[in-house]
Amino acid sequence: MEKYVINGGVPLHGEITVSGAKNAALAIIPAAILCQDVCTIENLPVSISDVRYMIATLRHIGATVRYVDKSTIEIDSRKVNSYVISHDMTKHLRASYYFIGALLGRFGRARVAMPGGCYLGPRPIDQHIKGFEALGARVSVEENAIVEADSESLFGNPIYLDIVSVGATVNIMLAAARAEGMTIIENAAKEPHIVDLANFLNSMGADVRGAGTDVIKIRGTENLHGCTYSIIPDQIEAGTYMVAAAATKGNVLIKNVIPKHLESISTKLIECGADVTEYDDAIRVSMEKRPGKCNIKTMPHPGFPTDMQPQMAVLLALAEGTSVISESIWSNRFRYTEQLARMGADITVDGQLAMIHGVEQLKGAPVKADDLRAGAAMIIAGLAAQGRTEIEDIMHIRRGYENVVEKISNIGGDIRMVYCIDPLDINNAG
Ligand code: EPU
Repeated sequence: MEKYVINGGVPLHGEITVSGAKNAALAIIPAAILCQDVCTIENLPVSISDVRYMIATLRHIGATVRYVDKSTIEIDSRKVNSYVISHDMTKHLRASYYFIGALLGRFGRARVAMPGGCYLGPRPIDQHIKGFEALGARVSVEENAIVEADSESLFGNPIYLDIVSVGATVNIMLAAARAEGMTIIENAAKEPHIVDLANFLNSMGADVRGAGTDVIKIRGTENLHGCTYSIIPDQIEAGTYMVAAAATKGNVLIKNVIPKHLESISTKLIECGADVTEYDDAIRVSMEKRPGKCNIKTMPHPGFPTDMQPQMAVLLALAEGTSVISESIWSNRFRYTEQLARMGADITVDGQLAMIHGVEQLKGAPVKADDLRAGAAMIIAGLAAQGRTEIEDIMHIRRGYENVVEKISNIGGDIRMVYCIDPLDINNAG
């Protein structure tokens, strides 16, 4: 069993470099099987576990994957020969369901076990299925466990999403890239990783227009080819370090970012009293005083991202006054507040609202990472708190934050990973 141990209360100072975007990578990796060729993917967060599982899945269906350097892989999908992906492969992460769209595009059929991933409330896939059916696929879900989709041929069609869904938008784009004719996704998600997937598909010879707006048009083609593509920087990793800089009253230059993607986060940090300076591909965040309160409502892009909500809650837990966070994407994203309460935070949750009464100081405590972004919040809280914090269940954090210990240590944070004996592990019982 591994834990992070943090001795907090040290302002973060220096420079940190953000990795490629996890959620773009998770869409682009399966997209590579839409061609029978070789794709080189650069700026990939190669060492996070979500990416490792997606690479393992590619190999499972016959692709050859070569690590070129610490942020580049080469995917040769000429020998992909299976449209079946079992629960063993899909249980680790949500994005494994992107193989449904990609396999439908490649073979006209897919048999993929239902995905795992962070528990943030119910995560239905009705909009994905609606999209595949609109393209002409027959879709069934066997015993709530396996999605089976097949079609003689896929045809482009208009699809209106009842809910703005990142996952459904991605999955439909993947299948539609090889469908005959024009698919129009209305009420599409507009996140930066949707635009990145569109750019990747276009680099493979696809015709995708309008990504980044709520209407995406995809003219399908059979003739996709390999390409070399560099993934955008991770908006949420960057935002996490921005908040960490502010919460520790530090001064950090965060490099390899697209400041435009960070606007909703920068705006809220400025509202709380931080200084934020944008450069071409970097952003500096500094904070000298106690943060001020602010209210946040999570929204699909370009609104404030739900994936930054727990991290911001840490800053607000230290702010002067009472702040309100309203979570509008996930029904169960406030579990981390119980962990923050162990550190002295004063937060009352009522359904989708959290009332945060700021305290002057957090105290180090043993806590756990309930999910990926909850874990990121625990790290920020540990860095800002007085004393020692131990974070358990760090496998969640390793899903999405590359080299987190090394990166934070380089800007002065006292964080290390320790191995400890799991009392339930019978091999170590004696
Ligand atoms: N929804 C439906 N039906 C569907 C699909 C979604 O009702 O068919 C609902 C969901 O239950 C949710 C809302 O629509 O209430 C939005 O879900 P969405 O499909 O947009 O989320 P997702 O694709 O499952 C992605 C990110 C999440 C991020 C959300 C929202 C990836 C791999 N995951 O999830 O990221 O929270 O969009 O922005 O891109 C994370 O990185 O920590 C993470 C959880």
